[in-house]
Amino acid sequence: MFTIGLLASGKGSNIQAIINYIKTEGLHNINAGVILSDNPSSGALEIAKKEGIKHYCIQEKKYRTILSPETEKKYVKVLKEHKVDLICLAGFMRVIKEEFLKNFPGKIINIHPSLLPAFPGLEAWKQALNYGVKFTGCTTHFVEAGVDTGPIILQAVVPVLKDDTPETLHKRIQEKEHIIYPLTVKLIAEGKVSISGRKVYING
Ligand code: GRF
Repeated sequence: MFTIGLLASGKGSNIQAIINYIKTEGLHNINAGVILSDNPSSGALEIAKKEGIKHYCIQEKKYRTILSPETEKKYVKVLKEHKVDLICLAGFMRVIKEEFLKNFPGKIINIHPSLLPAFPGLEAWKQALNYGVKFTGCTTHFVEAGVDTGPIILQAVVPVLKDDTPETLHKRIQEKEHIIYPLTVKLIAEGKVSISGRKVYING
């Protein structure tokens, strides 16, 4: 069994997409073992309840954009207790630091709403719109110490339309996220993803 831990701060639509994909594709070897959030009102916790998945809200009072080492240790402890093979960040609004990285080397992935390395950081769809690019999209990548800099696994392209608003563009990017994130999880669970330096290879 390949167990995944899912971390989110917001609405959790990517988590739902991963769970749906596991069900509809009959991926019986993949188990959504635990869902964690730093935000008590995150939709991800509601999804966990609805789907009958173990879930915990571990809040951070001291910092806004990172977790203190003590809080990171709490996350790591729960993830280890659930024996996760892969951690999927899905709109988890905290930069992951040492405790996570050293305990789960090469086992943390993220989804970002742009074609990295363009537009790292917050509200990437707005950055793309303001910059005037004709195409943007989304990227799944391994997580390393830098923000949105890890080796790229999959990307999907979304054209920017003349009348796009931040909302319409983000909505179309999310439709693609809901395709590439579950696929990324499946490929890793099947052992089809390997990394060499910055390059990620999909085999088979
Ligand atoms: C997504 O746009 C993802 O790319 C970004 O945060 C957002 C999370 O959305 N990292 P949701 O909570 O999965 O709907």
